[in-house]
Amino acid sequence: MTENILVAAAWPYASAHIHVGNVTGSYLPADIYARYHRLVGNKVWMVSGSDSHGTPITVRADEEGISPEDVYKTFHAEFLELFQQLGLSYDIFTSTHTENHFGVAQAMFSALKENGYLYTEVQEQWYSITQHRFLPDRYVEGTCYLCGYEDARGDQCDGCGSLLEANRLINPRSKMDGSTPELRKTEHFYLDLGALQPAIVEFLKEREDYWRPNVLRQSLGQILAEDLHGRPITRDLKWGIPVPVEGWENKRLYVWFEAVIGYLASSIELSKISGNENAWQEWWCNEDSRTYYFIGKDNIPFHAVIWPAELHGVGETFGKLHSGQEGLRLTLPYDVPANEFMNMEGKKISGSRNWMVDVLDFLSRYDPDPLRYYLTVNMPETQDSDWDWDEFVARNNNVLVATWGNLANRVLSFAHKYWDGHIPTPGDARPADTEIILKVEAGFEKIGELYNKVKLRAALREAMALAREVNKYLDEMAPWFEVKKDKNAAATTVYTALKAIDSIKVLLAPVLPFTSERLHSILGYTEPLFGKQMVETHTDKLGTHDVLRYVPSGAIGFWKPSDLPAGRELPQPQPLFQKLEKSVAEEERQRLG
Ligand code: MF3
Ligand code: ZN
Repeated sequence: MTENILVAAAWPYASAHIHVGNVTGSYLPADIYARYHRLVGNKVWMVSGSDSHGTPITVRADEEGISPEDVYKTFHAEFLELFQQLGLSYDIFTSTHTENHFGVAQAMFSALKENGYLYTEVQEQWYSITQHRFLPDRYVEGTCYLCGYEDARGDQCDGCGSLLEANRLINPRSKMDGSTPELRKTEHFYLDLGALQPAIVEFLKEREDYWRPNVLRQSLGQILAEDLHGRPITRDLKWGIPVPVEGWENKRLYVWFEAVIGYLASSIELSKISGNENAWQEWWCNEDSRTYYFIGKDNIPFHAVIWPAELHGVGETFGKLHSGQEGLRLTLPYDVPANEFMNMEGKKISGSRNWMVDVLDFLSRYDPDPLRYYLTVNMPETQDSDWDWDEFVARNNNVLVATWGNLANRVLSFAHKYWDGHIPTPGDARPADTEIILKVEAGFEKIGELYNKVKLRAALREAMALAREVNKYLDEMAPWFEVKKDKNAAATTVYTALKAIDSIKVLLAPVLPFTSERLHSILGYTEPLFGKQMVETHTDKLGTHDVLRYVPSGAIGFWKPSDLPAGRELPQPQPLFQKLEKSVAEEERQRLG
């Protein structure tokens, strides 16, 4: 039975370069997951886009003296380039700055309002007299009222690490011009999380037996320790999505409230683009679909509490307001497999201090699959992990080149030398041949289960262990001796090894799509394993915007043991991976900081 799988990957702020920590935290696990399910033959949509509103964008725009729109466009274009080079196969990667997203976010807001889950409240906030505007928390600095640190930010103190209430800062000053702001009253809409709490708790309890412990701790655990309170979901800003209520023209929807709506909006956008307006309902209004949210640990409350609250709270009203359809209920997250963080050479990654590996820069010197491999081996699935350049070089050389790449290369070269570039016809299978084939074939179920449960590190480890087994098998059978005594026996060995390699290529393909695809064609297949990525330009009321899309290939269902046909002609083999000099590690460390 084919399943509908929605792979939802975190939306990067369109205001900073993407580093390896972002990739291993959410975008790469999402892509591996999507590719695995496509190989199985399930109906997969992988969706995301640029998070283009909010203070991260306006701070950068103010610093550079350009418009928020220019900031978003520059980074969005960079992301599209990076994702193509790294093979992140989004069915759609769009942005929150589209007419479609505005409409969906406003309909979600209005549905929550109609269902009684929004209320308004007046609060005090810092107002800049010189700039005639309310200042977002991040724009105000002052002395921490907890520890006395003098350069605390309105939202957080770097002195003591506490989250702050901006109103209580001592000696506040505007980050923009140093002037002293004053507290003024302002009215906002709040999401009534108190009223939604029973439904959220029920939702979380239903998932308690399979969610990651860190995710449960930051959702169910926290709610049980302390009740939820209403949260403001509007802001005094110009950049962003207007609040669809008369008299509220000067306010905007809070960026977190609307960014998570992007998962739904991008699915609706993809439906329109692909000419089937209601296609999104197969994932979003289907009790049997499974929706997965791949995010970093700093995003857990927004995906495990707030977003489910929004989805539950709109009930059937969203469908009515958005497209006049009755009876549509939105599917709640099936899983939120959040990752921990990756550090860099023992220290916390920092974009501003350049203590990071910028992925686009990395790809200007190295191939994508070694990066994908290293980031999967070190994926912070259960605890923080560390990027170490020496380890990167060692793993590339010892595992990708020596274990996997050489295995494929030496067997293929051997077939070229002795069977004139054809897959040899095997004789009767001996116990050792049967044994290795059975081991590899069992991988489809065992490793498939690991991928399916988002245990990606373990899946990769098991697949690579099979490559080691095949190396052992070859060393024991030694076809290079066999061929001199009994060419028929050697043919059996070489055929068996090729068949095993053909299967392992598929088991590794979610992690190593580029090299698996190359090996696939070196093994003589004409239909590709995967589809193609492309960029399309669309125009709406807000202007033009580029979206990245993945178009599946015709063939599906490669997730099964090889039945490599004997006698097939093989193209010339080429090495899959390149050895790196040891000195690379030191050279690369020099770029840090
Ligand atoms: N832009 C946020 C970040 O980088 C993530 C947003 S995920 C979303 O932390 F779903 F809310 F968009
Ligand atoms: Zn402090």
